[in-house]
Amino acid sequence: MKIYEAKDYQEMSRKAANILSAQVILKPDCVLGLATGSTPIGTYDQLVEWYKKGDLDFSEVKTVNLDEYRGLTRDNDQSYYYFMHDHLFDRVNIKPENTNVPDGTEEDSDKECARYEKLIESMGGVDIQLLGLGHNGHIGFNEPAASFAQTTHCVDLTESTIEANKRFFASADDVPRQAYTMGIGTIMKAKKILLIVNGEAKADIVAKAFFGPVTPEVPASVLQLHNDVVIVGDSAALSKIPR
Ligand code: F6R
Repeated sequence: MKIYEAKDYQEMSRKAANILSAQVILKPDCVLGLATGSTPIGTYDQLVEWYKKGDLDFSEVKTVNLDEYRGLTRDNDQSYYYFMHDHLFDRVNIKPENTNVPDGTEEDSDKECARYEKLIESMGGVDIQLLGLGHNGHIGFNEPAASFAQTTHCVDLTESTIEANKRFFASADDVPRQAYTMGIGTIMKAKKILLIVNGEAKADIVAKAFFGPVTPEVPASVLQLHNDVVIVGDSAALSKIPR
């Protein structure tokens, strides 16, 4: 596991975008695993800027997103489908048919999860998976106590995640209670993992996840067992790691 420290959110975003760009340049038809949330917005903005300058070409890139709220339609501005189009897909030359987000409107969860897992496999797996980190250590929507072996599945969101995500909705009542997410088993199959994290509020969980015991109670701790993980954090998020 390599940890890179950035002085602030902008620098974290630029470093993360550099790592993703390198992947796209080295393998133009790569499979990028993508994340939503507030952390990667600056990374996506930076990729868009470099694309506009002519430094990046997404025409052969394929993507799979980590997760999606169950029950939200694509045109709902809180759906992760909408988020990805808004922050990245509609701003670069990626082919819409090469982008994939779990279908939150599919009511048959077994069917949707099996479809998504098979899709990732049929694409040859994920070359680099971008991850954010939840305050409770979740990755994707894999909440504490999730089995490390799980593949794509439907989860009930915990109160702490509903609380953290209500800032994007009119109220906590409007936050969907379930989501489809790649499982930890799916995430661990990615060839490379890039986790980005910023802000003092995540300093405790960073120390716990990457320097504490590997336990399902802290889902991100499983990344200690992956052989190619890069963490890019700002100084505030890395302020409590042992030096
Ligand atoms: C998003 C996702 C989540 C977030 C995490 C951090 O696709 O899977 O695990 O990465 O909740 O969210 P932010 O970045 O908003 O702090």
